[in-house]
Formats: sequence, C-alpha cells, structure tokens
Amino acid sequence: MTVRDAQPEGAGKRAHEGTSDNLRIPRHVGIIMDGNGRWAHQRNLPRIEGHRAGAESVRRVVEACSELNVKYLTLYAFSTENWRRSKAEISQLMGLLRHFLQERVEDLEKYRIRLHAVGQLDRLPSRVRGALKRVMERTRDNDQGVLTLALSYGSRNEIVTAAKRIAADAVAGRLAPDDITQELFSSYLFTSGLPDPDLIIRTSAEQRLSNFLLWQASYSEFWFTPTLWPDFSKAEFKRAVLDYSERKRRYGGVTDDHV
Ligand code: FPP
Repeated sequence: MTVRDAQPEGAGKRAHEGTSDNLRIPRHVGIIMDGNGRWAHQRNLPRIEGHRAGAESVRRVVEACSELNVKYLTLYAFSTENWRRSKAEISQLMGLLRHFLQERVEDLEKYRIRLHAVGQLDRLPSRVRGALKRVMERTRDNDQGVLTLALSYGSRNEIVTAAKRIAADAVAGRLAPDDITQELFSSYLFTSGLPDPDLIIRTSAEQRLSNFLLWQASYSEFWFTPTLWPDFSKAEFKRAVLDYSERKRRYGGVTDDHV
C-alpha cells in the first residue's frame, strides 16, 4: 500500500468518497463485530458457534462492500484484551480465523480485494501468521478493495508503539521535533497507508470504541445497532451506509445549510 492520501482535518475528504446510485458511499468502513457470545448463549450453543456464525456475517459484509463500492473495510476481529479469554476460546477463534482465510481467499480473488492485517501480529500463533501471509501474498495485486483484519489489535498499544518509533528516529537524528505533524504520526501507526474510517459500525447495542482506531476515528461517523453480529445482514449494512450517506460531515467547520 502506498502512503496515505493527505487528509489532515478532513479537508477535501468528500472527494475521496465513492458514489453508487447517487448515494454518497463511505470510502472506509470499520466494524466492531460484537455479540457472538450472546448469540450463542441465546441458543444454548457453545461460544464458538457464535463466532462461526459471525464468520458468515463477515462473508456477507465483504460481498456487500463489493456491491456498494466501499473500498476499505476494517474488521476488529481480535483485540489485545481478547488474549484474556480462556485458552480454549482463543484456540478455537484462531482455528476459525485460519479456516476462514483458507476458505475465503477465493472470494477475495473474485472481488479483487487485497487482504491486509494490523495489530501485534507476532503474538498470533505461527499457523495463523502463515495463513495470513499466504493470503496477503496471493491477493497483493488486487485493486478493487482492501479488507483489513485488526488482529491482536489495540489502539493504545498502536499509539504507544508509534510514539516509541518516532522517539527512536528522533534520537537517531532522522527526525526533528518540528517534523512531527499529524500526517507523520499517522504514518507511524499500524494503519499507515489506509484512509481514516468514514463510518464505524458497532453491533450488539454497546456504544463504545473499545480501543479500536482511537486516533483514526477522530472524525468518523458512528452507527450503532442492537443486532448481534451473527444476525447482521447485508440489508442492515446497506441501511447503515444509506444513513451515513444522508449525514452532513463538517469536520469542525460549518456548511452553508448549517446554522
Ligand atoms: C465479539 O463477540 C467478537 C469477537 C471477539 C471475535 C470476532 C470474530 C469473528 C466475527 C469470527 C471470526 C473472524 C473473522 C475475521 C473470520 P463476543 O465474543 O465478545 O460476544 P459477546 O460480547 O456477546 O460475548
């Protein structure tokens, strides 16, 4: 991925957004996929069945992005805090992820979507890292969209890691304090090269960011739904996009029709 397009305080940002049937389509959608456990619990099923059904929702949403021309989709698939779950659940989730990568690479090829991953990837089991690497290599030339999986990801960790790398470059004389701008800081984040998310969706009625894209979401629009992630449909994704397309984004400024 090349260096991100300049988009400091949102200036000119709309120019990047796509259109489909006269809708203003978000260029980048981030999703906090929540509620798999509750979905399974409601059905007296083990938690992994909720995650398995959640993987089907991922498939549907990737397809919807392709249909709507949403170019960037970032999914919060495993947080730094998720390492506190039981060993059994972590191992099942990692197995599911590996399986998903093996099964879904054909879809990514079909829709010409490139796979990308952000987070502390070195903490992932080697078999998951291997599967990620293979799919990223296989899809690297795809040019119709980017699917980013946030894995072992935590935004505070990402920001501290960026600060450490900037400090190291400053100590080594490669940077002066005045070189540190918002754009430079962004370029040290795991998400370097990705535009900031226009729309963030969170399922399962929770209304918080939970350490997801804290820096990048400064000007994002939010869409919360009580739907549990495994029940999240293409139609609901399209409703969220439609809702976004009708919003006015001012990035702290004013627009002609705003008093
Ligand atoms: C949150 O639900 C979800 C997760 C921690 C994992 C998300 C994983 C998937 C959707 C499936 C695999 C991912 C991919 C990319 C194929 P929760 O377990 O916290 O639900 P709860 O709050 O109801 O317990």
